[in-house]
Amino acid sequence: MTTAPTHLLADGNLLPAIGFGTYPLRADAAVSAVTCAIDAGYRLIDSAVNYGNEDAVGRAIRESPVPREELVLTTKVPGRAQGYDSTLASFDQSLSLLGLDSIDLYLIHWPNPGDDRYVDTWRAMVQLHEEGRARSIGVSNFTPEYLTRLQSETGVLPTVNQIEMHPYFPQLELREFHAAHNIRTEAWSPLGKGSDVLASGPVIAAADAHGVTPAQVVLRWHTQLDSVPLPKSADPERQHQNLDIFDFELTADELVDITLLGRPDGRLFGADPRTHNEQ
Ligand SMILES: NC(=O)c1ccc[n+]([C@@H]2O[C@H](COP(=O)([O-])OP(=O)(O)OC[C@H]3O[C@@H](n4cnc5c(N)ncnc54)[C@H](OP(=O)(O)O)[C@@H]3O)[C@@H](O)[C@H]2O)c1
Repeated sequence: MTTAPTHLLADGNLLPAIGFGTYPLRADAAVSAVTCAIDAGYRLIDSAVNYGNEDAVGRAIRESPVPREELVLTTKVPGRAQGYDSTLASFDQSLSLLGLDSIDLYLIHWPNPGDDRYVDTWRAMVQLHEEGRARSIGVSNFTPEYLTRLQSETGVLPTVNQIEMHPYFPQLELREFHAAHNIRTEAWSPLGKGSDVLASGPVIAAADAHGVTPAQVVLRWHTQLDSVPLPKSADPERQHQNLDIFDFELTADELVDITLLGRPDGRLFGADPRTHNEQ
């Protein structure tokens, strides 16, 4: 079993350096994938109301022999539940579906600036954190503008921002902002889901040089940039492989060559947080 190192978050809690993505797994497939991932050594599990799998993820966690306090369960408030009271209600509904009495990392899934409710949503999350029901609170898909507004209107910055990040979209400026404000970057679609990033020249060259797979190179690139990747795999062998990235080191040149794959707008799904509206 591989044990990942951890990062210290701004609130004093620990976050594993790699996590397990659960979208689009549901029902029995999600239970067995999460069970297998925990057995392999994953301790950070990423779910969301909108994945429709909180019941299955919660079941895998409850039935796991791994002590609850060793697992970092993440879920996210959806766009339709944004607002102070509706976030508190959505949180309770998530707990009920998960069958748990606390959430380790609770995130706003998308800012939905058109609705302009993310500040009130954040106030509810701060309250949940103060009550100890959400151990850490953060956001997803926030830009520096929205992060700055949270700080100026509530005085509290998120500990985590979960963003699209992969070699085609390395998010240099946003990561610099995170580093300057002690916000931990988590990366969704870290392998560039469904794209040809794993077949790109610099990734293949590094894989050959280190005797590892292209996916391991890309995940190691994330961790060496201090980003926490959340790869999804339903395949037990790939789950192991994706976790087994801490005994080799990419060179500075390899990191640069992979980062240079970045494109001005390398988003793979066209979901720009300034316009995207998550229901
Ligand atoms: N916050 C947000 O807005 C947001 C948005 C999207 C996703 N997410 C989170 O991020 C997680 C990961 O993102 P993602 O699922 O879009 O993309 P991803 O992890 O980059 O890619 C997943 C795909 O890569 C394949 N794969 C996994 N390991 C592999 C390996 N070692 N070699 C080759 N292929 C491999 C998987 O297939 P197999 O399953 O067959 O292995 C799957 O098709 C999601 O599950 C979700 O938890 C968050």
